[in-house]
Amino acid sequence: MAVPFPDIPWLQGFDKPCRFEGEVRNLIVHGEVPKQLDGTFFRVMPDPHISPSYHENGIHYIPFDGDGNVSAFRVKDGHVDFRQQYVKTERLVKEREARQSLWGRYQNPYTSHPCVRAAIESTANTNVVYYHGNLLALKEYTLPYSLDPVTLETRGYWDFDGQISSRSFTAHPKVDPKTQELVCWGTQAKGPGTTDCCYFALGPDGKKTEECWFQNPFCGFLHDAGVSEDYVALMLVPMRVDIEKMKKGGLHYYYDHDLDLHWGLVPRRGSDATKVRWFTWKNSFPTHTANAYQEVGPDGEVEKVFVETVLAQGNVLPFFPEENRKDNSPTISNIKIQLVRFCFDLKAEVPTDGTYQRLSDPEVLLDLPCEFPRIDDRFTGQKQRFIFCATAHVTGEPNSLSLVGSAGLNSYTMVDLSLGKVEHCLFRPNSLVQEPCFAPRSKDASEGDGFLIGLVNRLDTMLTEMVVIDTKNFSKPVAVVEVGLRLRQGLHGNWVEASEME
Ligand SMILES: [Fe+2]
Repeated sequence: MAVPFPDIPWLQGFDKPCRFEGEVRNLIVHGEVPKQLDGTFFRVMPDPHISPSYHENGIHYIPFDGDGNVSAFRVKDGHVDFRQQYVKTERLVKEREARQSLWGRYQNPYTSHPCVRAAIESTANTNVVYYHGNLLALKEYTLPYSLDPVTLETRGYWDFDGQISSRSFTAHPKVDPKTQELVCWGTQAKGPGTTDCCYFALGPDGKKTEECWFQNPFCGFLHDAGVSEDYVALMLVPMRVDIEKMKKGGLHYYYDHDLDLHWGLVPRRGSDATKVRWFTWKNSFPTHTANAYQEVGPDGEVEKVFVETVLAQGNVLPFFPEENRKDNSPTISNIKIQLVRFCFDLKAEVPTDGTYQRLSDPEVLLDLPCEFPRIDDRFTGQKQRFIFCATAHVTGEPNSLSLVGSAGLNSYTMVDLSLGKVEHCLFRPNSLVQEPCFAPRSKDASEGDGFLIGLVNRLDTMLTEMVVIDTKNFSKPVAVVEVGLRLRQGLHGNWVEASEME
């Protein structure tokens, strides 16, 4: 018998698991969905299919846990059709058979039922990326699950026909629009607790083009990166992994206030681990990157790499334990979160005392709490003009996120870096936004000319709406589409043109 979900904030109210699988044709549209849009907006949410009740020391649920439930909004001729399916991971299949939870604490197999400790850990709940005829459902400590991009049926756990030697695959691979490569990496690449890291790339034909193995300075949280034409800048957040703590029932991560933020700059060509260059900055937490690009000197050498990212001045994931906390360490209610640009100076001298090169303070691009930065993906790796993100406008209070995740993110923002102009699309009270993505008006439209697509959770009606915003008139959506369901806070998603999937 399926028992009720426990009475904890992440699993009640709007975030009570949705658990819906199926199809709704012809979603009701208010306004007009632009006829130029012909493609699919894919997104995924962690959506526990059953109460996470298995753990001998009691329930400890965090919002990144839960089975990946993939939504697809097919947009064509001004109509929107909706489909949603769980990824049929080994975990979901085994727990459905058992009709009970078998997995324990987040990313800690030592706390799972003995019969599943050797099973694939993936919930496939973090991102969905289209690649070479497959929709990849990603969770960063395992390889992807491949889905049929039309039906969303699960094809299976996929190692790219044996080409991937890393045991893990990032949830944030980037597509280089010039080479059409999928630029990837695996962290804890030889298993949980290992410092092994693997950079690799896959060509548009499905074949691996690059692979480089190296060691991270410590075993930590390596979630996202910036990708320029010649480098991958991996961000190693000061969240440590300690296998001994996990064996005792602890969580996978703990935030260490005494540890610096580290960045690993990995050349995209070649496999020489000694070419990986590490940089540090003060203890802080970059969450997601918008983009990266590089500057080349007169001799053709890359002199600088720039990475634009959301940056929090401390731990933004308070559900993970902390160590070495200081009296003045920020809390989740007063933490500073900004959109910034780091500069990696490759011509500066490398320290000879065994320490890493120190980064200068980053330039602030947007001084407003924000998350989920996106760009016009046709400009990945190039110096781009626009950044879109979800932002928090807190009336009458200092700009701070009151809670992690969607709480507080109530608007979409477009930053024009060329003109220094910022525009917002604010929603009515009791609305929270999910990650947006950008769809160009046409194949050859200029950068940023197109539409921002995202989901808005209406806490008053307990329903989700899909909104489409024309970037030429950013303040108000041109279409509000009734999903007719409550879609709890998702993680990531992408717009895929129909022509790309043909
Ligand atoms: Fe992410």
